[in-house]
Amino acid sequence: MICTWAALRETGTVLYRKNGFFGFVVLDDYLPRGYVDACPHSGMPLGGGLAEDDLDGAHYQTREQDVIVCSWHSASFLKENGLCIGGPCAGDHLEAWPVERRGDEVVTI
Ligand code: FES
Repeated sequence: MICTWAALRETGTVLYRKNGFFGFVVLDDYLPRGYVDACPHSGMPLGGGLAEDDLDGAHYQTREQDVIVCSWHSASFLKENGLCIGGPCAGDHLEAWPVERRGDEVVTI
């Protein structure tokens, strides 16, 4: 399990870090969308944090939660497919990390 559905609904973004894998899930209307947490521009986690216990997803989206943003150089990405629509890596994609909702949980598939 990545997180509970309730946790994703509450925050809109949940970070996941385990055994060196960095990922994150955003809520796209009523769908969870998962991506590897590595900006196409530099390969760094979008939120800037590298520590395993740095799980604050507050800076992974705009305030309106309409697009994903990278805190390093402000690249912006569509939630539905990870396409970069602005910034230094425009046209590139975040790497998809397949996830889905199963009842009260969000899980990898
Ligand atoms: S590292 Fe993400 S925009 Fe530069």
